[in-house]
Amino acid sequence: MKLPSIIEEFKPEIGIVLGSGLGSFAGALDANAVVPYSEIDDLPQSTVPGHEGRFLLGKFAGKRFIVAQGRVHLYEGRSAHVVTCGIRLMAASGIRILILTNAAGVLNTDMRPGEWMALKDHLNLTGTSPLLGGAHFVDMSMVYDSELRHQFLAAAAACETIMFEGVYAGLLGPQYETPAEIRMLGILGADAVGMSTVLEAIQARALGLRVAGFSCLTNWAAGLSQEPLSHQEVLDTGAAAAGRFVNVLETALRNGLD
Ligand code: HPA
Repeated sequence: MKLPSIIEEFKPEIGIVLGSGLGSFAGALDANAVVPYSEIDDLPQSTVPGHEGRFLLGKFAGKRFIVAQGRVHLYEGRSAHVVTCGIRLMAASGIRILILTNAAGVLNTDMRPGEWMALKDHLNLTGTSPLLGGAHFVDMSMVYDSELRHQFLAAAAACETIMFEGVYAGLLGPQYETPAEIRMLGILGADAVGMSTVLEAIQARALGLRVAGFSCLTNWAAGLSQEPLSHQEVLDTGAAAAGRFVNVLETALRNGLD
């Protein structure tokens, strides 16, 4: 893949992928440049409302960031290889740390919508992998870096922001789950459910990046509330919670995230 020279020259240190409704991190960034995905060969365009489809380069809390504002999902009909193209690009740009964020439904009733969950582990239930095509037997025993996670949890405590820890189940979508599927996911050990992140995390680990993952718990998973699920609720709750995550991130960086 050809890395645009503007990205190469910026030398990003940390990458972050912004999920549904979390675009406001972009406003907190001291932005130097915008690179639309359309300007990069191989990079697919997202078709989802709330996903912008561009990289931002900028400084935040003293670190150089490359921000993927908008991602492409498997449910848009793209392959696992294609949806992780942006991760390979960010890895090629030289980052060592990748922060993945997403919107997720919550099924653990000790948690609640409107709060954040740090990913301890995941269930890849998409039925596919970005590593298909070869004998890439990558170790997945610690996808989400525990040191990074504990630094974020300490920062959240310092900001008096609730940050749960749990297991994220990544499904194909695009339909939301049935109540029976949610009961099944609970038995499998999931705390939250969504349609992204797991493939990106697998790709990032295969490239040796340290990964942190965070779910904005935007709604009760199907069957846990009387309300039908809506994408608008996901976007609105994500937008309301995004500011708190930006504070946690800033505190973690000021404390010396490493
Ligand atoms: N299920 C799957 N994906 C989601 C959900 C959900 O309840 N909420 C946000 N993304």
